[in-house]
Amino acid sequence: MSNRKQHNHAPSFPMNFRRVRQTPAIRRLMSEVTLHKKNLIQPYFLQEGIKTARELPALFGQQQHTLSSLKRELEKMLEAGINSTLLFIVPDEKKKREKSFNFSFDLKAISEIKKSFGDDLVLWTDLCLCSNTSSGHCGALRLKANLLNKNPKQTELFEVDNDLTVRELQAKSLAYAEAGADGIAPSDMMDDRVFAIREILDHHGYHNKLIMSYSSKFSSNLYGPFRKAANSAPSHGDRKSYQLAQDQTFDAIRCAIRDVAQGADIIMVKPAGWYLDIIYRLKHEALLAAPVPFPVPVAAYQVSGEYQAIALLAREGCCNFESAYLESLIALKRAGSDIIITYGATSLSLE
Ligand code: PBG
Ligand code: ZN
Repeated sequence: MSNRKQHNHAPSFPMNFRRVRQTPAIRRLMSEVTLHKKNLIQPYFLQEGIKTARELPALFGQQQHTLSSLKRELEKMLEAGINSTLLFIVPDEKKKREKSFNFSFDLKAISEIKKSFGDDLVLWTDLCLCSNTSSGHCGALRLKANLLNKNPKQTELFEVDNDLTVRELQAKSLAYAEAGADGIAPSDMMDDRVFAIREILDHHGYHNKLIMSYSSKFSSNLYGPFRKAANSAPSHGDRKSYQLAQDQTFDAIRCAIRDVAQGADIIMVKPAGWYLDIIYRLKHEALLAAPVPFPVPVAAYQVSGEYQAIALLAREGCCNFESAYLESLIALKRAGSDIIITYGATSLSLE
């Protein structure tokens, strides 16, 4: 038996918790969360059909790049200690037809970039159709069968064809892999595209090409600056039939679990800052529980609107950009993100 005094009520002696906050050095010692450059991915926009790089006024510090300005930027990125990029390749005109897209600009760019930087660079290519389709939707459209004999509004005539889209994505992912992309990052939210992409890559001998799935991508108001940059806003309707509902956790979790089971090397939560609970649950609960085959790294995508919101607050004199930006990234780490995709990666000065 212990002879220690038993307390059956809250202890009443003074508790000095502020000791650990007294000096910068003590606070530093107590730190639980560390941001590393090695876990960051810097996104870039490569725009077809422009002669010089253009500022993106809606996305602080970011540009639409030409291939040569992008290569200069990648060089600076590597010098800054970041070696992963997520590339959005934007065609100069949207195609009328929903099929047979022409990716020759994309493929030339990917192979030139890979030739210049080799394995020093981890080149992720975003995979979607929304910059290509005239509708701006992330999938190919088909006529709704059950409306054929009625008289609906033009915009109600079409719906996204999941399986046709997946076949297009397969072809595009194979072409990107052949051109030299290290990893494919499907952002469309169609069902079973991870399975289909893994299958076609393996079938052609690309067993080592990575897949980072935008597994838990919500239908969000925070994509605005990106849609301007990538010319990818839907011309009618919204993305709610494929992107996740904001008020549903189960769907975000099961999409991530499915994508792990289907071969994703990295899963993703997007947007990040308004979905910290999802990051936490994937990292600390869902992927550790049966019947998940095994946990994988969780990436957080701090999207354009999240990033720009901080820039706008700072522009209004309401916060210090560097400090607030760092705080937003610390939150993502604290929630459990392994990898962070963020527009300001190269601008960070980390210890
Ligand atoms: C499109 C895509 C989007 C983003 C990445 N890929 C926008 C969307 O789904 O509308 C958002 C990125 C950002 O806002 O930074 N598949
Ligand atoms: Zn898309």
